[in-house]
Amino acid sequence: MAEDPRDWEIETRAVRGGMARTPYGEISEALFLTQSFSYDSAQSADDRFAGNAPGFIYQRFGNPTTEIFEQRLALLEGAEACRATASGMAAVHLSLMGLVKAGDHIVAGRALFGSCRWILSEWMPRFGVETTYVDATDLTAWKNAVRPNTKAFLVESPANPLLEVTAIGAVAEIAHAAGAKLVVDNVFATPIFQKPLALGADIVVYSATKHIDGQGRVLGGAILGDAELMTSAYKDMARHCGPALSPFNAWVLLKGLETLELRVRRQTENAAKVADVIGAHPKTQRVIYPGRPDHPQAALIANQMSGGGNVVAFDLGSRAAAWKFLDTLEIVDISNNLGDAKSMATHPCTTTHRSMPEAERLEIGLTEGWVRMSVGLEGAGDLSRDVSRALDAA
Ligand SMILES: Cc1ncc(COP(=O)(O)O)c(C=O)c1O
Repeated sequence: MAEDPRDWEIETRAVRGGMARTPYGEISEALFLTQSFSYDSAQSADDRFAGNAPGFIYQRFGNPTTEIFEQRLALLEGAEACRATASGMAAVHLSLMGLVKAGDHIVAGRALFGSCRWILSEWMPRFGVETTYVDATDLTAWKNAVRPNTKAFLVESPANPLLEVTAIGAVAEIAHAAGAKLVVDNVFATPIFQKPLALGADIVVYSATKHIDGQGRVLGGAILGDAELMTSAYKDMARHCGPALSPFNAWVLLKGLETLELRVRRQTENAAKVADVIGAHPKTQRVIYPGRPDHPQAALIANQMSGGGNVVAFDLGSRAAAWKFLDTLEIVDISNNLGDAKSMATHPCTTTHRSMPEAERLEIGLTEGWVRMSVGLEGAGDLSRDVSRALDAA
């Protein structure tokens, strides 16, 4: 009997999911760098455009390489359907635009990646869509923010940059009671450590730029959910608005998926060691890492995540100390990206979150002393030494 890929272990799904070979029997997935496709006859073009016959039409609507990536990621996530996008921000934007119309309302966790906040605060209001931000750890705040016209909830969990975690199941219940859909940005947890759809979310979004590539090469994104919602909310919009992922990038991301599990687990082992070095250093005022028992939401994390991930945040008390730390690092790069094989650290107040008004930054606890570090695949001993030396200097 043919194997059902949905029954495979996660490692097998990441390596073989969605595989579709050409008659050449290639081992590495074929890269179809083609904008359009030809038809055997005028009738066959008519049939494909009408949706009565399978087959590709145009790269903006679909591509065989991109489709392997979509199917592999869907299998990894346990989702019925996936739509790949040109970047993580295209995924976040599309995921919300497909759920709302003028006059609707969104509720969002207040600790969000800067560009997500820009979409909600600056962009959506131009189309008559308002957002209420809430402390994502406070279930009563989610409930109180609901209005009769609320159509979508958006949350990042763990959130950027202070790694707050949201009770996804409980927030999904509140969203559903209000007739709204819950969108979860699962970038920090990765499909390896958290499955928002299984916890009750309706849509998961990724920046595939992060761990899925994980080697600093291409941008990409993805939206995942059940087949009916993915079709009704996003199919036409993706086809006509044009956020498609390049097949070349899809191919690179496919290679990334093959090693995702291995990389993320090793990064997480390294992150746990680095977090302990940071936590034990006298210059550290506070360290937050979802894999440590002193994370304020350790019990919730144990319930909904199977690993702490590779990002560590820590407070060195002042901007001067945070900058001195960054400037003393020799191995770890100063960079605002995350999920890469190379470790990188950033000062969120002056980089990723600089567009956030100071009052809002302080509301989420993001003071000038915070550093966010994405731990990579270097040797844990080298990383610990680099971080210790930089902390001594801070
Ligand atoms: C949590 C989160 N969501 C979305 C994005 C956007 O992804 P991209 O840079 O691929 O557009 C980022 C980072 O850039 C992120 O950290």
